[in-house]
Amino acid sequence: MDATLSRVWDQTHGKSVRSGAMPPRTWPDRAGIALAALPERYALPAAILRLALAPRRWEPWNSYNEHRAYPSPRAAWLVDVSVVEGHRRWLVDPVRDRLAGHADAPAGAGTAVTLELTVHPERLPAGYAALADALTWLEAGHVAGALAESAQAHGWHATTDLDDGELTVTLRAADPAPPGHAQAARSRLGARRTSGLGPRGLSADPAPLPEGTLAALSQAAHRPPTGSPAAWPGLRHRAVACRITGLADGLHTVDSGTTHLVDADVTMDPVQEAFSYPRDKLDVAGMNIGWVITADVATAVRAAGAAAYRRLLLAAGATGQHLGSAAAAAGLFCRPARSVHEAHLEAAVAAPAPEDFLYLLLIGRSRPRDFAYDLTPPEVLP
Ligand SMILES: Cc1cc2nc3c(=O)[nH]c(=O)nc-3n(C[C@H](O)[C@H](O)[C@H](O)COP(=O)(O)O)c2cc1C
Repeated sequence: MDATLSRVWDQTHGKSVRSGAMPPRTWPDRAGIALAALPERYALPAAILRLALAPRRWEPWNSYNEHRAYPSPRAAWLVDVSVVEGHRRWLVDPVRDRLAGHADAPAGAGTAVTLELTVHPERLPAGYAALADALTWLEAGHVAGALAESAQAHGWHATTDLDDGELTVTLRAADPAPPGHAQAARSRLGARRTSGLGPRGLSADPAPLPEGTLAALSQAAHRPPTGSPAAWPGLRHRAVACRITGLADGLHTVDSGTTHLVDADVTMDPVQEAFSYPRDKLDVAGMNIGWVITADVATAVRAAGAAAYRRLLLAAGATGQHLGSAAAAAGLFCRPARSVHEAHLEAAVAAPAPEDFLYLLLIGRSRPRDFAYDLTPPEVLP
């Protein structure tokens, strides 16, 4: 157990990442079957996969492309999704809108489709070392969260399971959800999600955010779609907020979707100081919300083994996904980050000693509206 914990802590403490060149990617074989050529009974599962996974945007000025409904560190896409049926697997190739691996379609009824999510930390440069694992499981949380959002948008349900290190999301046809529910999920996933526009360093528009912004984000974090790992237990949420109309600046705790001001003297400055990039690269101090997710990792790992840490990362990633979608719907960016000096950030938000930092989400309104190529296939947002 202590070996696991020492690896957990090895992944943190804000070491500087020696990034190096991106490792080469092996693209899936072209053989396979187009999503559009699947039998009619797979039309809804295919639509759920597309809405969650398809490329949406290419930003010519950005070194990391492309952009999807969920974020990925350096857009390296560390998680693959496969459709599983018995011993057969079809790798979802969201770029080519295909299932790769077999030329024939899955033979199931299409009413319950099991997806296997496989993690690929090796796609990050070697300088990320053990941190790559944590980033990959956070991204897997985003992917599971995006699939649950997409299932909800189509009136289906998702279930996420982590058993023996195997991560699956099962999509099931459900009684039609209340139409408003599906419509709201669809418009959140249709919005332009972004980690922030920053060709010359990312900074937020200094104008205040509208009343209710933090409350809406808290609802998104605490009322996730069915099957999202965001509902798994163990996370603590705190937000440093400033310049939100009708809300006192300072440190707020966020429990069950309600926010409480706990210290009006806390500003974004200590969050900036805990951040490992300088202010001219990422103007953290000028952002409106620094949402910090922590958990008592040691107690969880001692009680349930190494998988407990992965479950916490999955839950944190999925929460980050729902925050990012809600931010997008409100016209805001949401920059996920691990590049912090943990001890400083934990102190800034007054996390009790047993809690370890898991994830930081920086939220604000983008200043520029830059040119980007829209890659969204017409089938994704008809
Ligand atoms: C798990 C995770 C960790 C990330 N860590 C950082 C970070 O430490 N610093 C940063 O600037 N961006 C970070 N990002 C943001 C990615 O770089 C960003 O998602 C990617 O460049 C694609 O941009 P987009 O989200 O706007 O599509 C992270 C994203 C994820 C999912």
